[in-house]
Amino acid sequence: MASTPVRSSAPGKVILFGEHAVVYGQPAIAVPVTQVKATATVDAAPAGSGLTIVASDIGERIVFARAPKKDPLAAAAQATLSYLSAREPDATLTIKSTIPISSGLGSGAAVSTALTCALAKFLGHPLEPAEVSKLVYKIEKIHHGTPSGIDNTVIAYEKPIYFTRGEPVERLNVGEPFTLLIADTGKPSPTKKIVDRVRRAREREAAHYDALFDQMGDIAAEARGAIESGDIETLGPLMDENHELLIELGVSSSLLDELVETARLTGALGAKLSGAGQGGNIIALVEDDFAEEVAEALKEAEAAQVIQTKVR
Ligand code: PMV
Repeated sequence: MASTPVRSSAPGKVILFGEHAVVYGQPAIAVPVTQVKATATVDAAPAGSGLTIVASDIGERIVFARAPKKDPLAAAAQATLSYLSAREPDATLTIKSTIPISSGLGSGAAVSTALTCALAKFLGHPLEPAEVSKLVYKIEKIHHGTPSGIDNTVIAYEKPIYFTRGEPVERLNVGEPFTLLIADTGKPSPTKKIVDRVRRAREREAAHYDALFDQMGDIAAEARGAIESGDIETLGPLMDENHELLIELGVSSSLLDELVETARLTGALGAKLSGAGQGGNIIALVEDDFAEEVAEALKEAEAAQVIQTKVR
């Protein structure tokens, strides 16, 4: 067990293509966003004090031994301890995060990842990304019910991924780095609720919804080729097409559409909502020379925050 503080960080993420369809077995593409992150620090505490988890950003102080089973932070600690067959350590685990909550940037998965990695390191057993991803998936189920697993995978690997549910993760080789703007509506995007709504709609009209998911899967497959060969020009129109399908799926909103339109009109090569939808973020593909102009326009169109990131 470490006697000096141990720290681990995990990035945010965005889904570039294939959200929702990925729940139904279609491929999707996601990338880490290192401009925002969750950090967990573990400090040794006096013998007999047990484990305390402090997340002051969300006003939580959890005494591990008395935490409800479904508390996601305590559950992440429990999953890690069980996996390592380790006893509860005497320690304080402090969580901090700059990732907006409930906005499609993977805040929950990033917090669980940072916590799991820091605790495992503190116990002297650093974990591999595949192990972390598996543990965090269990916690994602508490957050989201039936997650596809894309968030925990991209965040644990910290690399662009081509993800198909239930299949081994495939890393994406980015042929030519490209720039994205991520603009936040400032409205929450409650993943579980929206995924449930899509499921009920599909139950009523399976053929229609499956056709939409098939088209989204085809777009993700084509986008993969474009990303790997560095054909950035092709990506923009594919994002636009994906957004139209997400509108048809019923998960966009007037504010998301407005931000997407603003990005396109001010020079973005393409734009779409990212994540579960209804609120949360849009992403826009931009040439570096236009990034500032598009970002300014997005802020004027009431984006709560705009993040610029380079995918490589
Ligand atoms: O957590 P979010 O908002 O990025 O949404 C996850 C993406 C979905 O495809 C809608 C759900 C899932 O589990 O993949």
